[in-house]
Amino acid sequence: MVLFEKIPLYSSGPVCSAMTAQILDGKSLSERIVDELRQRVDALCATGKRVPTLAVILVGTDPASSIYVRNKRRACERANVRSLSHDLPSSTTQVELLALIDQLNADAGVDGILVQMPLPAQIDPETVIERINPDKDVDGFHPYNIGRLAVRMPTLRSCTPMGVMTLLKTVHADMRGLNALVVGASNHVGRPMGLELLMEGCTVTTANSQTRNLPVLALQADIVVVAVGRPNLVKGEWIKEGATVADVGINRLPDGRICGDVEFAVASERAAWITPVPGGVGPMTVASLLQNTLQAYEIHSA
Ligand code: GUN
Repeated sequence: MVLFEKIPLYSSGPVCSAMTAQILDGKSLSERIVDELRQRVDALCATGKRVPTLAVILVGTDPASSIYVRNKRRACERANVRSLSHDLPSSTTQVELLALIDQLNADAGVDGILVQMPLPAQIDPETVIERINPDKDVDGFHPYNIGRLAVRMPTLRSCTPMGVMTLLKTVHADMRGLNALVVGASNHVGRPMGLELLMEGCTVTTANSQTRNLPVLALQADIVVVAVGRPNLVKGEWIKEGATVADVGINRLPDGRICGDVEFAVASERAAWITPVPGGVGPMTVASLLQNTLQAYEIHSA
């Protein structure tokens, strides 16, 4: 059915809109990726090789972090990757955490080290990230790994942007020349996300909390990635007809419901492809973590 009644913000007149977005199903794609990884791990083990191993460090009892870490450990189980749990009290000092990282860096049986963020206030996250050996930095947060991505020589890539790219590539075989808007400029998501899209030949705009003309920028974007952490920040009317939308936000509303950073209902009437929340980018982050762990294993086994 063709609708003529919608007049989007900042348009010069009525548009013809028949779009209902298709879902970019991160959950099922991530399950396929984890299955493939398990087959690779099983093949390694069948030849007597060492089991790929991920050390996961959780400091404190933040409920959201505990859930994320549980999901990562479960994904390791599904991929037959060994996970080592280091659950530390919230009173852990920076010196103690750095000593544990030094020990894991030196352990030839450990391929990847993940320190779940955020950390308690007494610990500086940047100092912690820089202490992880870059070839065990399976989060892809270390400045060395971000720098390699910046010069188009990626090794271990930041997991959320990597997962978004894996999803986007299922619907955009060639992204060259597309306008991509990244909303959010964090070190761990927004910035590496922009670098990933740049590497694929997109014309990239990175918006931040000070950006004044966000609706105008969004209406020009063929690809919109939003990673701010504010429920429904990006209005559905701002999405260009036929665009692809990746929503990184996971927000809990006062009534307990989970929603993303994009106004899903309206955006999905305009976009061609959109990620749901939950079930979109989140599972892809975990799948990328396991891919990085296998890549780190290969680096250590070479
Ligand atoms: N906290 C929220 N997301 C992440 C992530 O991808 N990695 C780590 N280490 N901490 C997080």
